[in-house]
Amino acid sequence: ALVTVSELLTKAQKEGYAVGAFNCNNMEIVQAIVAAAEAENSPVIIQASQGAIKYAGIDFIAALSHQAAKNAKVPVALHLDHGTSLEQVMACIRHGFTSVMIDGSKYPFAENVAITKKVVELAHAIGVSVEAELGKIGGTEDDISVDERDAFFTDPKEAQEFVARTGVDSLAVAIGTAHGRYKGVPKLDFERLAKIRELVHIPLVLHGSSGVPDEDIKKAISLGVAKVNIDTNIREAFVGKMREVLEKNPDEIDPRKILGPAKEAAIEVIRQKIRVFGSSNKA
Ligand code: G3H
Ligand code: 13P
Ligand code: ZN
Ligand code: NA
Repeated sequence: ALVTVSELLTKAQKEGYAVGAFNCNNMEIVQAIVAAAEAENSPVIIQASQGAIKYAGIDFIAALSHQAAKNAKVPVALHLDHGTSLEQVMACIRHGFTSVMIDGSKYPFAENVAITKKVVELAHAIGVSVEAELGKIGGTEDDISVDERDAFFTDPKEAQEFVARTGVDSLAVAIGTAHGRYKGVPKLDFERLAKIRELVHIPLVLHGSSGVPDEDIKKAISLGVAKVNIDTNIREAFVGKMREVLEKNPDEIDPRKILGPAKEAAIEVIRQKIRVFGSSNKA
């Protein structure tokens, strides 16, 4: 069944696990996300970035996800990842997304509050849940200085004010993770996360989670993270398997013989993540 992210995260927060939010951009990945969740008897979030929506087309992303959710034995939410405009948010709501992220993190605090508040008003009026971002989750940063930390990472007091002023359902925090592949091992600021948790009581979201060691993910979940975003690890598994098949069979011309095994590889990595997040058998 199709549900909102907010209802999945409320239960996750209460029971101390996190729900995986996995990025899709084609049919095989949508199918892999739902197949993995079913194999683990876990709730799951299918999410699409603006880039994915542009690539596949919003009608296809929505139709594929709705079809997968309709037949699923587990609860599935369809979420816009890093929406940056009201137009994008509204297009997704019109296409039946059950949750949206408005990422106003590139704006100064007051503007981020303003755009987030507006999205919350519109989305809540029709039962769609909203994620926002405060602080900057950058590219891979290896050696970030103390000054840069204070400039880019989420400030706990600001987070408290942001949540109170916007009424947002969940908050993406910047505590040292980055999108894409890490050059070294990321160092998460758990002290900051704990302070945010003291002041902010809604579910927190960890972006850039591919490449973060399992133990750190578990620690972040114990400190209030209830949604964990994974894209890069799926791409690596999916394309890695495609490459392997093509290297072994350079003459293969049947897409099914390449994308079928790639889908299986994606299912495996997603199942593994779901187990780390603790959401197996929580459907
Ligand atoms: O947050 C970024 C996600 O990994 C999506 O990336 O913009 O390349 O689709 P993308
Ligand atoms: P990764 O690139 O680490 O998989 O992060 C994905 C993400 O945060 C999507 O919003
Ligand atoms: Zn992200
Ligand atoms: Na990452």
